Amino acid sequence: MDPIDRPRRLRRSPALRALVRETRLVPAQLIAPLFVVHGSGVRRAIASMPGQYHLSVDESLDRTADDLVAAGVGGVILFGIPAAKDPIGTENWSPDGIVARAIGRLKARHPALLVFTDVCCCEYTDHGHCGILTADGVVDNDATLEVLGQVAVAHAAAGADVLAPSGMMDGMVAAIRDALDAAGFADRAICSYAVKYASAYYGPFREAVESAPAFGDRRSYQMDAANRREARREADLDEAEGADMLMVKPALAYLDVIREVRDRSDLPVLCYNVSGEYAMVKAAAAQGWLDERAVVLETLLAMRRAGADAILTYHALDAARWLREDA
Ligand code: PBG
Ligand code: ZN
Repeated sequence: MDPIDRPRRLRRSPALRALVRETRLVPAQLIAPLFVVHGSGVRRAIASMPGQYHLSVDESLDRTADDLVAAGVGGVILFGIPAAKDPIGTENWSPDGIVARAIGRLKARHPALLVFTDVCCCEYTDHGHCGILTADGVVDNDATLEVLGQVAVAHAAAGADVLAPSGMMDGMVAAIRDALDAAGFADRAICSYAVKYASAYYGPFREAVESAPAFGDRRSYQMDAANRREARREADLDEAEGADMLMVKPALAYLDVIREVRDRSDLPVLCYNVSGEYAMVKAAAAQGWLDERAVVLETLLAMRRAGADAILTYHALDAARWLREDA
């Protein structure tokens, strides 16, 4: 009989397992999404996302940022809830809009903290779509590009490090790159939500920012969940338009797509562990049906193994703390 092949030899002790471990997860690879609102002293729990809050741009935001920095989290991505919504989302590019103010506050307190912003219209428009509408209620791709350029410049002027367009408009990366360069922000990076699917997993987020479309859905601009080849096409286009990083979203149900993009591009690949993925884990953990810590770390590691260099996740603070305890 042939000798038995024995992979178990390398699993005998913690030291051996650590030595041959192929993938690692560290706090610097995690980006925490934050929801900022007008008002003062606000730290309002978001019902569908336990552990996440609407934060006002004052000590509430400071305290959260302090915790994230102390835990070694890699950065934050900001989502703003404006004072008022209108058809074109005016507050989105206002120098004293909610996101611009949050960037200023964060950078004054923690200059080294990496700040991403979400560059899209849906949190700011009264109809909840990701762009400007035509008279017939269709999202007007090219009219939206102009707005996105203006928004990116406003965020960059406020101090954002990375602009992350998430609206799945064709040509959005090139339009934002041109606008940033023309405004003197050639040094700011673009992380494109290049491969973003029309997903039911965004449900809790839309409740958090009240951005559910007032009519219709987002299927005419976000991708069909059935498509993998199209992910390659979207990634190629955004790379050619000048994206510095590519993102796949959602993450957990799309690990194959993360791998596809990783194998195709030499750009850093990020993935977004979205609100619905978070809510499922929190709900099961609250029932005592899952070990939250173990499940979260296993899930984030799986995203790294699939090929993501970094992960946007609502678990960022908890995960960073657990990783430090384990180190
Ligand atoms: C805005 C945007 C969305 C998310 C991030 N940016 C919502 C959407 O496209 O409907 C979802 C994030 C999450 O679910 O955690 N375009
Ligand atoms: Zn949007």
